[in-house]
Amino acid sequence: MVIAQQFIAGNPKEKTEVPEGRLKREAMAVICKAVEHGSDEYNDTVALRDEILRKPLGLKFEQSELDAEKDSHHLACYENGQLLACLVLIPKDGGKVKMRQLAVTEHRQRKGIGSTLVVFSETYAKDLDFKEIILDARKTAIPFYERLGYKTQGEPFIQVTIPHMFMSKGLPKDGAQTGKDR
Ligand SMILES: CC(C)(COP(=O)(O)OP(=O)(O)OC[C@H]1O[C@@H](n2cnc3c(N)ncnc32)[C@H](O)[C@@H]1OP(=O)(O)O)[C@@H](O)C(=O)NCCC(=O)NCCS
Repeated sequence: MVIAQQFIAGNPKEKTEVPEGRLKREAMAVICKAVEHGSDEYNDTVALRDEILRKPLGLKFEQSELDAEKDSHHLACYENGQLLACLVLIPKDGGKVKMRQLAVTEHRQRKGIGSTLVVFSETYAKDLDFKEIILDARKTAIPFYERLGYKTQGEPFIQVTIPHMFMSKGLPKDGAQTGKDR
């Protein structure tokens, strides 16, 4: 199982793992790993999700919503122990896993952190034998997911008061990962 993956400045492997090598230019080491539901690290991810995803919409988490995440996978990125980004993977039927709640701390957005965490989560999901990642993308984040090979499907819809679109990406064990055609 993938427990943690480190992205270090100057590592040639990064060329395929980190779009545009921006992490390299910033000469930093980013660690991606799973965190345990209910742990202090998990509580930090909830605080980040609340700050980035809920507060701007005037919404907040209900405890029942967080309790229901017990069987989900919680993945996070750190630099020098500082939480930079997090997301949730929820197992679904048919070899699918739903990616939710991707949030990058505000002062580190557009620096390759979100891409790094999504790429890590794809490896993590493949390792658990999932075949496809699905997600409901905020309209504003669609270009970000498209850059990573995700494809939109269907019509826009409203969720948490704002427009979203369904997106997906296949996770073949070997070869290129592919988004489904519309
Ligand atoms: C959307 C988000 C997760 C992207 O993570 P990030 O670390 O900022 O993105 P990256 O630096 O990895 O972006 C890679 C590329 O994706 C595209 N992209 C990222 N954010 C974008 C945005 N808001 N609008 C348009 N394109 C975007 C760009 O092409 C970017 O490359 P560039 O900066 O060289 O132009 C992050 O900005 C975030 O947390 N936003 C607020 C919460 C949110 O919308 N979450 C997604 C919910 S579905």
